[in-house]
Amino acid sequence: MILKNNSTVGIVGLGLMGASIAAALLLNGQKVVAVSPIVSDVDSSAPDRIKHSLEVCLKEGLTTKTPDEFLQNIRYTSDYSHLKNCWLVMECVSENLAIKQEVFKKIEACVSDEVIMTSNTSAMPISLLQNHCKVPERFFGMHWDEPAYTSPFLEIVCGEKSPIKIGEQLHAIATTWGKEPTLVRKDIRGFITNRIMYAMYREAFNLVEGGYATVADVDRACKNDGGRWMAFCGLFRYMDLTGLQAYHAVMKDLFPELSTQKTVPKLIDDIAKAGGNGVTNGHGFYKYTPEEAKKWKENFEHFAFDLNRLSTDYAKKMSDITSKNNPG
Ligand SMILES: NC(=O)c1ccc[n+]([C@@H]2O[C@H](COP(=O)([O-])OP(=O)(O)OC[C@H]3O[C@@H](n4cnc5c(N)ncnc54)[C@H](O)[C@@H]3O)[C@@H](O)[C@H]2O)c1
Repeated sequence: MILKNNSTVGIVGLGLMGASIAAALLLNGQKVVAVSPIVSDVDSSAPDRIKHSLEVCLKEGLTTKTPDEFLQNIRYTSDYSHLKNCWLVMECVSENLAIKQEVFKKIEACVSDEVIMTSNTSAMPISLLQNHCKVPERFFGMHWDEPAYTSPFLEIVCGEKSPIKIGEQLHAIATTWGKEPTLVRKDIRGFITNRIMYAMYREAFNLVEGGYATVADVDRACKNDGGRWMAFCGLFRYMDLTGLQAYHAVMKDLFPELSTQKTVPKLIDDIAKAGGNGVTNGHGFYKYTPEEAKKWKENFEHFAFDLNRLSTDYAKKMSDITSKNNPG
């Protein structure tokens, strides 16, 4: 199988992530064919969101080009046949296996066998998804982070039938999109970060439901501990930086006491079943007035740009050492 990058990428599903990824690709010189069967996505919501993201990127200095210059390179459509000339098609629809499978069939009916297909699934095993495809060997996970246009995060995931060589080429291409991608060479549910983050979420619920701390205290502790160093370095580097002997000693006694709960915690179950969706509808672990929700969303967006600047500065400062000793 040969990867033929012609700089036109298809995106199917234009919700939060599809729109965000489209903006990221446009900013990095790709042409985008944006597909959704939902007319309101194609007519207004996705174009509005993508334009807004590009405006913010201009305002924050991430680009000097105007949104209109980028928007010449995107085509919105409900017709899957417009994916025909793409070298890569990314699925970004809801996290639902049946919906994803239906979408893969529609994509496969329109593109040739060498076109690469990826899924933005957060946690479904790539081997499971690819086994429902006509050509499993061209199928990979491409797991983006929100906002995709500022975050350097991108996981490229090989399923059991995905050739690692193609995965490596996708990894190299994603680097040219301004990402610092990781290549997951062997499929595992949740990939790297979701496995780590969900282990943390589970323990957070354990602490709150066990009465050890409130939601706000857990949040404050995470923000002021992990939140202060994780944008600088990863877990293993942090243990090196702060003395790994201490971690070795603590693990022996603490690991057996960490939560291993296998069911969804009651705290989130109750909120989710009552329709709560966080800032989107003002009902989450905290309550939000519409003004508060707007402020959290806006500041989250600004913070991502500020963090990007800081982290780019430090990555430059460290680049000599990381390239000499081992990859950072
Ligand atoms: N939200 C995040 O931060 C995030 C991060 C990484 C990965 N993801 C993953 O990305 C994917 C999309 O998530 P999202 O947050 O953009 O969700 P979303 O709900 O904002 O968007 C999903 C989109 O899928 C569309 N859709 C539903 N049924 C469809 C169908 N049959 N055909 C075509 N389109 C259909 C919906 O119209 C909607 O626009 C999911 O797999 C999710 O797990 C999300």
